[in-house]
Amino acid sequence: MKNIDSYTHTRGESIYVDDLPILGGTLFAAIFDAPIAHGKITKLDVTKAKQLAGVKYIITHRDIPGENQIGGIFPDEPALADGEVHFRGQPIALILATTKEAAHKALKAIVFEVEELPIIVDPREAAAKGEIIGSVRTFRLGDVEQAWKDCVYIYEGRADCNGQEHLYIEGQGAYAFPVENDCIRIVSSTQGPTQVQRGIARVLGVPMHKVEVDVRRLGGGFGGKEDQATPFAVLAALGAYLSKKPVKLVLDREEDMRMTGKRHPYSADFKIGLDRNFKIMAYEADYYQNAGAAADLSPAVLERTLFHATNAYFVPNTRLSATSCRTNLPPNTAFRGFGGPQGKFIIESAITMAAEALNIDRAIIQKANLLKDGDEFSYGQIVENCEAEKTWNQAEQDYKIEQIRERVAAFNATNQYLKKGVALMPICFGISFTNTPMNHARALVHIYQDGSVGVSTGAVEMGQGVNTKMVQVAAQTFGINPDRIKLETTNTTRVANTSPTAASAGADLNGRALQIACKAIRLRLKAFVQKEFNLESIDAVNLQDEWVYVDGEKTDWTWEDLILNAFGARIQLSEKGHYATPRVKFDKTTEKGHPFAYHVYGTAITEVTVDCIRGTYEFDAVHIVHDFGQSMNKIIDKGQVEGGLVQGMGWLTMEDLRYNKEGRLLSAALSTYKVPDVFSVPKEINIKFLDTNHSNLAIMKSKAVGEPPLMYGIGAHFAITDAIKAFNPKAIGLFEAPMTHERVLMALYRK
Ligand code: MTE
Ligand code: HPA
Ligand code: MOS
Repeated sequence: MKNIDSYTHTRGESIYVDDLPILGGTLFAAIFDAPIAHGKITKLDVTKAKQLAGVKYIITHRDIPGENQIGGIFPDEPALADGEVHFRGQPIALILATTKEAAHKALKAIVFEVEELPIIVDPREAAAKGEIIGSVRTFRLGDVEQAWKDCVYIYEGRADCNGQEHLYIEGQGAYAFPVENDCIRIVSSTQGPTQVQRGIARVLGVPMHKVEVDVRRLGGGFGGKEDQATPFAVLAALGAYLSKKPVKLVLDREEDMRMTGKRHPYSADFKIGLDRNFKIMAYEADYYQNAGAAADLSPAVLERTLFHATNAYFVPNTRLSATSCRTNLPPNTAFRGFGGPQGKFIIESAITMAAEALNIDRAIIQKANLLKDGDEFSYGQIVENCEAEKTWNQAEQDYKIEQIRERVAAFNATNQYLKKGVALMPICFGISFTNTPMNHARALVHIYQDGSVGVSTGAVEMGQGVNTKMVQVAAQTFGINPDRIKLETTNTTRVANTSPTAASAGADLNGRALQIACKAIRLRLKAFVQKEFNLESIDAVNLQDEWVYVDGEKTDWTWEDLILNAFGARIQLSEKGHYATPRVKFDKTTEKGHPFAYHVYGTAITEVTVDCIRGTYEFDAVHIVHDFGQSMNKIIDKGQVEGGLVQGMGWLTMEDLRYNKEGRLLSAALSTYKVPDVFSVPKEINIKFLDTNHSNLAIMKSKAVGEPPLMYGIGAHFAITDAIKAFNPKAIGLFEAPMTHERVLMALYRK
């Protein structure tokens, strides 16, 4: 089934926040944000700005009727700065004017003075100065101290990976409308409608029922709108509440890049120990996460780094300690993989270091340590239905790894200034919010008298195709055509208390809730048919292909007849469903439990050619065997693997996020921040569906696919370093990402 959005997308008819028709009286908002990364505000004078043409209101923290607080996990982030600023781009004041241009013009007329305070941009420096968010988290398994004694080979090193700009196509934005009795209705580009609702209620000092949040779709989120859509929605709502006018706030690209947080940069020290057969006996790591100036989601991201610190490998003895470090950068946030990619990059670096020292292929160590059923993760969950070896072996066989290696060796033997490299990258990613209470969802279904269906869930469509999957769930449960079903907007008055659409769990959680609702109506309809047809058993009734069947025979009732008759007989044609993931639990005091409903596996083989004169590279191919479970939509799921892969490759190759020592973002525009384009994607991407048929907690056995494939991109780093080594054997220990052309060139000619 095609993505239900493809029709309007390809015609440019899909509606985003910035496309909403403008209501009369609308005021346009601009944010006055901190021009320095740390300081005490000594003067904030808006009188001149207020007198400019078109300017109606200038709002500061003093005007906030409720709590000046938007922090989610910790209350450490004001909606508008009060007294101090902690990062460049922090909102200080909100200007409302009759045009967007007038609002932006007035920014320059605000008089702002500040007493500068010391700026920290490096996480290790922050940790050394005690600037820590929450507490240090440590996961342990086995006995590392004892294990070191049994290791034949031990290596210690350091790995660093940088942040990443989300670069959703649609920038952050919201359009807020005042409603009678101090209520607000708001359209927000958010992954978390309830987060927005709660944030607005808190800052306005009103109960949540006074705030209605509506989301049609997002032009991409990638985690960047899990929590960070909230501050902008809050400001728009605050403006609407105070001015009693509709207020629209949509960030320009540059504002968005400057003001919002990104993927967390990490720096880590590791120690890895192997036995004679290259089995990893022990692994220790200390992670320093660059959280930025406030907690945001950093503690949760930090936790997922620990969950995925040993990737798809079994390590019997581990000590993993992670510190979230407060710096003067915009608060970093969720980004596809949610800390998992960083954890995986670091253990892949450790494995590479061992392979380089032992002068063997990394794949030998990787393969010798793949997870198996019955193994234990450091967090206590036991491995079940493991596909790590299956995807690895199938990738080796189907893509003929021996031939690839021979081809590469032959090429490298005959080419002096072009060198090829290969890397394998297995993945293992846990599905569920690691914060157990977030793992539930609701849906609401109406069948109208004419047999058409309206479906609301808590899931937010952001390009990943969740709405199409929801249509498939309803169509299959009712036995009707998908075009009878309409996916309504995600709205807090229809589906309340939603978890954000995140953790790749959107389709599982909301799909299951929807299935429960549809099944309840289906059961009522079948009972009605049983009564009308005087049947002994309800099991004789089936709804299929838009018809009512009895004992396998078509009756003269179509779906439409059934619905009309049922309505006439006063049968309830609406239903809600609630689903909570069974089994999941996690105890933070012991750091043990069963946090994930299941894991997703896969293996990628990356082939690259490096130009050893220029330091440039091209990816010849990426070959993947991915564990989709039983995919319910192969087109969408394949698209998720391709998109995730390329986004992950971008993170570790060309996306060069740079802040200077003053905390200013230097790569603040698309002229200086390069993301993969059609010329830099692999020339060939092959994706095979692993054939499995386990029962699992996925929706219709179709496993979550949103985030895991991003981590195939890590293979890009190690394929490049493999090629570099073919040119310059001294270029080892390259564990600093991203592998930009400059960095590659330096390594090629390292002495
Ligand atoms: N795909 C597209 N096209 N756009 C996005 O913003 N976000 C990713 C992934 N795939 C994203 C995407 C992230 S970070 C997550 S968590 C999942 O989609 C969320 O959707 P799901 O739970 O329905 O998989
Ligand atoms: N993944 C993604 N988003 C989240 C999570 C998670 O595990 N926990 C809270 N938000
Ligand atoms: Mo995705 S980072 O969980 O929004």
